[in-house]
Formats: sequence, C-alpha cells, structure tokens
Amino acid sequence: MEEPKRKILVTSALPYANGPIHIGHMVEYIQTDVWVRFQKMRGHECYFVCADDAHGTPIMLKAEAEQVSPEVLIERTSREHQRDFSAFGIEFDNYHSTHSDENRNISEFIYEQLRKDDLIVARTIEQAYDPVKGMFLPDRFVRGTCPRCAAVDQYGDSCEACGGTYSPTDLIDPLSVVSGVTPELKKSEHLFFTLAKFQDVLRDWIANTDLHPGVVKKLEDWFETGLKDWDISRDAPYFGFEIPDNPGKYFYVWLDAPVGYLASFKNLCESEKIDFESYLRPESDTELYHFIGKDIMYFHTLFWPAMLKGAGYRLPTNVFVHGFLTIDGKKMSKSRGSFIKAETYLSFLSPDYLRYYFSAKLTSGIEDIDLNWDDFEARVNSDLVGKFVNIGSRCAGFITKRFGSKLADEIVDTELMLSFSSASADIAGFYEEREYGRAIREIMGLADLANRYIDSEKPWVLAKQEGADRHLHLVVTMGILLFRVLAIYLKPVIPDIIVEIEKFLGEPSLSWPDIHAAPLGNTINKFIPLIERVESEKIVKMIDEVKRAAEEERAIVKEEPEEQGHQISIEDFLKIDLRVAKIVTASSVVGADKLLKLDLDVGGEQRQVFAGIKQSYDPEELVGKMVVVVANLAPRKMRFGISEGMILAAGPGGSEVFLLEPSNGSESGMKIK
Ligand code: MSP
Ligand code: ZN
Repeated sequence: MEEPKRKILVTSALPYANGPIHIGHMVEYIQTDVWVRFQKMRGHECYFVCADDAHGTPIMLKAEAEQVSPEVLIERTSREHQRDFSAFGIEFDNYHSTHSDENRNISEFIYEQLRKDDLIVARTIEQAYDPVKGMFLPDRFVRGTCPRCAAVDQYGDSCEACGGTYSPTDLIDPLSVVSGVTPELKKSEHLFFTLAKFQDVLRDWIANTDLHPGVVKKLEDWFETGLKDWDISRDAPYFGFEIPDNPGKYFYVWLDAPVGYLASFKNLCESEKIDFESYLRPESDTELYHFIGKDIMYFHTLFWPAMLKGAGYRLPTNVFVHGFLTIDGKKMSKSRGSFIKAETYLSFLSPDYLRYYFSAKLTSGIEDIDLNWDDFEARVNSDLVGKFVNIGSRCAGFITKRFGSKLADEIVDTELMLSFSSASADIAGFYEEREYGRAIREIMGLADLANRYIDSEKPWVLAKQEGADRHLHLVVTMGILLFRVLAIYLKPVIPDIIVEIEKFLGEPSLSWPDIHAAPLGNTINKFIPLIERVESEKIVKMIDEVKRAAEEERAIVKEEPEEQGHQISIEDFLKIDLRVAKIVTASSVVGADKLLKLDLDVGGEQRQVFAGIKQSYDPEELVGKMVVVVANLAPRKMRFGISEGMILAAGPGGSEVFLLEPSNGSESGMKIK
C-alpha cells in the first residue's frame, strides 16, 4: 500500500564554528541522514538542511587568538565541516551559515514580531566584567573556587567536582579566563524574552506532539521549576547580529542559531523555487523535524517553539533527541585517545563502518550510545562482510561464468522471496520510528536466512553435477534476488556500498518499492569486493595517532600560559631558575608535526628539551643560537623521550615564534634575574 506523498523538512543541530567535527557529532548527523535517505527512498519530498553556528563569544575570541577576522575563521571552519560531512556521506540539501543575510532578516523579523506583542522586556542586570579586556564575561569565561565544595579552578556556572550549579558571582576568588584579572560587577540593560507567557502554548504543543517519553519527563521537570524569562541580548564586543534600535547590543547566539534552520531552508527555497512560506504557515500540511542531542533540549523544546509561535509560525512536528556518544562507557577524552576527530577517523577507517555501527546501536531514546572498538570490529566484520556481502559473492561468479551474466527468468523459492519482501513494512516502521537497531537486527536475520538457503542448496555441488544447470541457475539467481532486497533495506545506512551494488545489478537508484519487483532475466555486471574487513591494526594506529596528537598539543600548550586566570606570587616566580643555554643540535621528531628535539648546553651540562617551534624554525638555523631555558623544570616523560626543561620564546604562534637571542658575550649557563 502506498503512503500519500509527504512534505518534510528535517534539520540536524548546527555545529559550532569554533571546532572540528568529531565522531560524537557524527551520531547525530548519521542518525538524521539515515532518516532522510529513508524518507526519500519512500518517495516523499524531504529536505535536509543544516548550517554552521557561527556567532558568539568563543568564536570571537578564537578568531582573535588566531589573529584573523571572525569571518575568515568561520569561512575556513565551514569548509572543513562540509568536507568531513560529505566524506561521511551526509547528504544535506543545503548547508548554510548563521552569519548570513537570510538569518539576519528572519531573526530581525521574529524579534520585531515578539517586540510588537510585548514579549520582550528590558531589565538591568549585573554581570561579571573584565576591565582589562573591556568585555562582559560569559559564565564559562570566569573561573574560581566552587562556593559549595571549595574545589579550585571551576567554571563560572557549574562545578565539575561536586556537580553544583551557581552563578559566576558566587565563585570564590573569581578570575577572568580572558585576561587573568579579577572580574568586576557591572550593570547593563538586557532584553528578555518572556517565556512564561507561553506556558499554555507549550503545554498544548507537548500534549499534541509525539515526543519521546524521556523528553516529556525532562519537560515536566522544567515546568515544575517554572519557566523563566530568557536573556536574548549581549553587549559589544560580540560577534553576531546587532539588535535593531539597540546599538551596541547583539542577539545572543542561541537566539539566531535555531533561526539558522529557517535561514538555510530559505536559501535553498530561493535556488530551488520551493515555496518557503508554505512550510511555515501555522496550518501547514508539511512536517518539520529537528534532530538534536540531549544537551540542547531546553532550547529546542521550550525557547524555539515559543519563538516560532510568537512570530506567527507553525511549531515543530517533533523534536528527536539522541544521547551522547561514550567510548568504552566513558566521555570522549583526548588523553585516553578517544577524542576522535572525523578527519582522523577517516584517514584510518571507512565511513561506512561507522554509519553501520551507529545505526546498529541507535534507538529512538535519549540514552547514551557506547562505542567499543572490539565490538565495532566484530560487528562490522560479521554482519556487513560475513553475512551481507557474502551472499552476493557466493552467487555472482556462477551467473557471470556459467550463464552469460544473465539472471534466470523465474523465482524458484517464492515463499522465501515473500518472507523477504513482506518484512518491508516492519523494517520501514523501524526506520520511521528511528529504531535503527531493530531494523538492522531484522535485516541481518534475513541475511542469515539467505545464507542458510545457499548452504542448503550448495551451488558449488550443483555446479559439478551433470544436468543440474537449470537448478543451479535458479538457485544463484535466487541468492542474488535476496541480496538485492537486503541492499534496498540497507541503502539508507550504507549508501556508498549500495551504489556499487546498483552498478553490479545494473539498476541505478533502487528505491523502496523496488523490493516488490524482481529483475528476472536481467544482465548483471562483474561483482567487485564491496567492503574490506576492519583491520584491528588500523584501529590501534588511529588511537595511537589521537594520543600522540594530544600529547604534542599538551607539550605546546604548556609553553603558553595555559591557565591565564592564575596569578603567581613573586615567591613563586623566584623559584624559576632561568638560564641562558646554547643550542648544540636541533632535529625533527619522528611522528610529531610541531616538535623539535633540542640538545642544549646549559653551562657545560647537556640537556634534552622538546619544543613546539617546528613551524617557526628549521632545525639547522637554530644550531648555535642562545635561548632562555627554565632549567629547574621537573623532567617530563613524553612518547618521544624525556624533556629536561623548557625553552622560552615569544610571539603570536604559528610561524611567528621568536627566540630571545642575547647579544654576544653571554655565556651558556648564565643565570637570569
Ligand atoms: N551550536 C549548537 C547547536 C545549535 S542548533 C540551533 C551546538 N553545537 S555543537 O557543535 O556543540 O553540537 C552539535 C550537535 O552535536 C548537538 O546536537 C550535540 O548534542 C551533538 N553532539 C556533540 N557532541 C556529542 C557527542 N559526544 N555525542 C552525541 N552527540 C553530540 O550544540
Ligand atoms: Zn563544587
């Protein structure tokens, strides 16, 4: 039975433009992409849009630290994000930026609607202010001692030691992360969105939306606590959109971020001649879905529906929330080698493996998803290679060699064929419900049946029997037909592999209804190995690389004042033994992109030091130079060897790091101070 054609707009959360895509992000983009591909295969009109989330303080400060404009930074990051997404087969219909004209226009429009209806109020608040940097500090940019458990060096909004939450003004000995000084309290007028006025609208939306029970439970908690007004403005300096009629005030990044969904869609509508308004009208017959992680639920299930309502738009049809990726049950961590960037993963392993593995583990719930590399390897090898691809490779050769590449003209086991095609409703239901794990279990159950069929028919025996030609032809054709149905079922998950199978079958762009057709008598093409087994060695190498990069980064970061927020006393400073040293040899370090190994002469004593200055100096030009070294730093064991000190250099970084070179006459070993 055919479903009526649906019109669906789908989004994934917009990744921040201040960092790379990692495999944790990929849970979401893969989950969404599988769903969208499934909808498209079903014949629905489905658009998948996304964008980079380009505004806010962290992006502004990162650009500053890199000495580029925020525009340059977000441009570069967007290119990197899109490169990674496309390598993972994430097929957006449009990828835009929140720093765009469309987004400015729609954000201003929504704001003006809210303002007109008295849904915005101004109020003066007191906030942490960095007098040196001349800016108000977001909570995360103030650190200090936890007011509850006295743990030192905690964020301004929450304590990692005791889990307490509080405001930056409660911190003991607060310091600005930006300049290291004690923040002042300063007043400023802010604009607030009156969320509480939407209490009934939101309750109504929740009651009429098929939200996951886990999401509803969270919402109930929030209603219980009470909906508070939401601060939507920030003072300059800020990278974002200036608020109309409020010079020096900017929209808070989270105001224009979800608007970015609409902006990206608008941008698509303009190029594709799609009726944008028809997707936004309150009584629209279209569907709108947001896929998000559990950390950003408040924004998507309270603020965003309220904003849409306030602007006179439709509300989301649903918000699909997933859990977080953990690795071996723990949060991703650089030092454990589990903070894996998409780019790093891709240089060792195939994207299809991860698409398959995540899909096999995904449910419609909000619980975390765990990745274990042994399980990953076993799962991919046994399911994709051992079960699925195996069916094709067991049958294809006979067709090409014995039957002129032509499939037989008859389905020999109609019952088996029917059990494959009649699973279609269940499998489609699982995809629709985002129960991908159950879909995969069902599909692999069918793959087992197909393999059992081949085992019992023994084509390799038939091939040697006199007069069994016709039967052999029917059996291997049957195998290929079953393989073909499985390929259609798996297409949303591993589209790139299925493209190869489509070439093999000579049937481009298989879609869902093709399950019920059989290409009898068709000519097929040569079967090429579609996927390689996961090699555990590659996984080991990848983890090693992640650890190595993390160690190198630590080595370099330590040479910059990492904890800028910490002042030391003169007594502390006097403990540092600074000496002049002469560089005796300098060489590159195998396996490190940024480090050089230096042998120093510190007053007749030889020291080995690793320094992150490879981008600024060729080793040869360093030999003979004098440098200042921290001579009493405790030796540190690194993967590359022991580092027995630290050299001092100055500069913005990259290729501009300058060593101090005392004029002639200085001697190595000379004490400085
Ligand atoms: N910029 C905001 C979203 C704005 S949407 C209008 C943001 N960006 S993010 O880059 O931090 O995260 C993007 C998405 O990836 C979020 O839905 C987030 O939950 C998800 N994930 C980020 N890390 C994740 C894991 N480790 N595991 C699973 N999903 C994760 O939030
Ligand atoms: Zn605490």
